[in-house]
Amino acid sequence: MTTDTVQDLETALDTRFPDVVDRGATGAIVRSPGRVNLIGEHTDYNEGLVMPAAIDREIRVAWVPTDDRRVEIELLATGERAGFDLDAIRPAGGAWIDYVAGVAWALSVAGVETHGFRAVLASDLPAGAGLSSSAALELAAAWALSNGRPSMPPMDLARLAQRAENEYVGVRCGLMDQFSVVHGIAGSALRLDCRSLDWRPVRLPAGLALVVCHSGARHSLAGSAYNDRRADCERAVAQIADREGDAIRSLRDVDDAMLERNRDRLDDTAYRRARHIVDENARVMATEHAFETDDLNAIGRLFAASHASLRDLYEVSSDALDSLVEIASGVDGVVAARLTGAGFAGCTVNLVHPWAVAAFRAAVEREHPRRTGLTPLVLEVEATDGVGLATGQPNGAEPDR
Ligand code: GLA
Repeated sequence: MTTDTVQDLETALDTRFPDVVDRGATGAIVRSPGRVNLIGEHTDYNEGLVMPAAIDREIRVAWVPTDDRRVEIELLATGERAGFDLDAIRPAGGAWIDYVAGVAWALSVAGVETHGFRAVLASDLPAGAGLSSSAALELAAAWALSNGRPSMPPMDLARLAQRAENEYVGVRCGLMDQFSVVHGIAGSALRLDCRSLDWRPVRLPAGLALVVCHSGARHSLAGSAYNDRRADCERAVAQIADREGDAIRSLRDVDDAMLERNRDRLDDTAYRRARHIVDENARVMATEHAFETDDLNAIGRLFAASHASLRDLYEVSSDALDSLVEIASGVDGVVAARLTGAGFAGCTVNLVHPWAVAAFRAAVEREHPRRTGLTPLVLEVEATDGVGLATGQPNGAEPDR
């Protein structure tokens, strides 16, 4: 974030909440990035493997603490203001402030002290685009509510934000998004094992640009389709455990051979969901190796296979996402393309030779509206550090690795 942006936010806070600011309490500015998942889709809630990266599109919240137990935030883009009382948190109402109230609720359940605050929020991270604007907001909220870096290990903080989304907002998401926002590392993807929670940075392939294409169709995870997929996977586990025994607790415990010998016990939907998860975990491991060896052909094949599986077996793609991947496959210099995030709408992730980025952008902007009637948004992004104060140390936290 530039010094200009920091000053703009401080000025905006001063004009929007002059009474509070005048009392002289010191706040700060937190920057909280979005994420793009390179590969490993819908595997997180199946205790599998994921490989996301935090990106340099972020939410920025400038806050000043108050002692009135009241939280109020103004969105600078629209002037919309929302808030709640920390001692009277109501059930989620279907608005963006839910993510803040959810974190306040989760902090208090965990016995962590929270503070009231007034804040302004600026963002260059598209909302509802599948780039984890929700997780970015949750983590920014955790900082403002704690008036600084929350005093708990980073992984615990990620899990606390996930809990807010699971239990307060009502989306049964996995840990990937909150993990990425907390642990991001500039220049790297992060390979997380969602069972052991072991993770490590994975260098992105040398010399390739990371390009995100937003299809122009927004998505809402609060819709039932995401939770339905999770229920399909749980059913597959139950049907397999029926024969194989209780040691089978998640699809992480199921390998290729076990899945095939239990095929007759699974309904068709459960089989296809499980097939995707088993294969996708293998693709994460293969992609990690391909990144390390700069094997661009393998990366292209793995991304294509992931997209096809999400489209045909997991059924979370859409005409708009398929259109973007098809356009990408026709442009010289695009190495790999697939849908990223939950799917249904949202974005694709692409690895592109730098010399081909302009041609790729032009092809998407020309062909996508013609095919779908939607206006795409092409963003060249960089992998970046996780949530932290805009001033001071990157991450504002000791890494837990
Ligand atoms: C959303 C969820 C994540 C993950 C992805 C799909 O982003 O929040 O936990 O399940 O979908 O990979």
